Amino acid sequence: MCRARAPADAEGDTRLQEVASMTETFQLSREQAQAYEDLFVPALFGQWAPQLVDCARVRDGQSVLDVACGTGVVARAARDLVGPGGRVVGVDLNSAMLEVAQEARPDLEWVHGDVEDLPFEDAEFDVALCQSALFFFADPGRAVAEMVRVVVPGGVVALQTYAPLAEQPAYGPFVELVAGHAGPEARVLLGTYWSQGALDGLLELASAAGLSLVESRSSLGEAVFPSAAAVADTEIKATPLAERITPETYARIVADTEELLGGYADESGLVRVPIRATLLAARKG
Ligand SMILES: C[S@@+](CC[C@H](N)C(=O)[O-])C[C@H]1O[C@@H](n2cnc3c(N)ncnc32)[C@H](O)[C@@H]1O
Repeated sequence: MCRARAPADAEGDTRLQEVASMTETFQLSREQAQAYEDLFVPALFGQWAPQLVDCARVRDGQSVLDVACGTGVVARAARDLVGPGGRVVGVDLNSAMLEVAQEARPDLEWVHGDVEDLPFEDAEFDVALCQSALFFFADPGRAVAEMVRVVVPGGVVALQTYAPLAEQPAYGPFVELVAGHAGPEARVLLGTYWSQGALDGLLELASAAGLSLVESRSSLGEAVFPSAAAVADTEIKATPLAERITPETYARIVADTEELLGGYADESGLVRVPIRATLLAARKG
């Protein structure tokens, strides 16, 4: 999921699919990272950044780390709040993402690094934020522990991820539709983004890392696509499922997706697929 709006032409659709699949393996080229910033940030990721910094109570003068920052949408939102006396650093495993981030905002610090071994001192930040990435980490518990390590006692760690499929009004039925045609493995292959968003699971992660809850939110937003068919196209071609189904099965999935999601089209024809995020902010010590 989460690959959202692209230009409604063949070249745009190809760009969309390439970025969608590469995002999950971090092997983005510079062009794909730019497409992520141009297409996916406005269509999906951008909407959560103001909510995450608000949830984390980011304020003037603070030092803030954006973990798995991608092209830096959360870091940019934090910068607006910390002001000239604050500090904002983005860290990511993907160099191409960091290049795009650096080009957009050379005034912020962009650092190459792995969330499971953050290249920062203990207690270097007041706040550590992580948006739309927890489900990619091999060991989310270790990632949260690292975020806790680099914030000061009393500092805040805040996470944004996506609610489980059972709580997704459109993606839940969509994945079931695909599984109905392609078999139960579709639930696994299309399942990455929804795997870390259950609130009780996030609360357990936070508690295991010694954090106490500041606030949790369940927030309904939208992912914007050029058409309902583009949802199926983007989701399936971003996963190995694309190679495991016949062209006939694929065509049936696209046709049924148009029926399932066509009602989310707005007056201009864009399909606004509802998507539920979970946000959690918690305090160290
Ligand atoms: C879907 S993007 C989200 C980027 C950004 N937070 C946003 O909201 O636009 C996921 C990001 O996680 C990064 N990532 C995945 N695993 C990582 C790891 N172990 N350490 C650091 N970054 C990682 C990827 O490189 C990618 O930029």
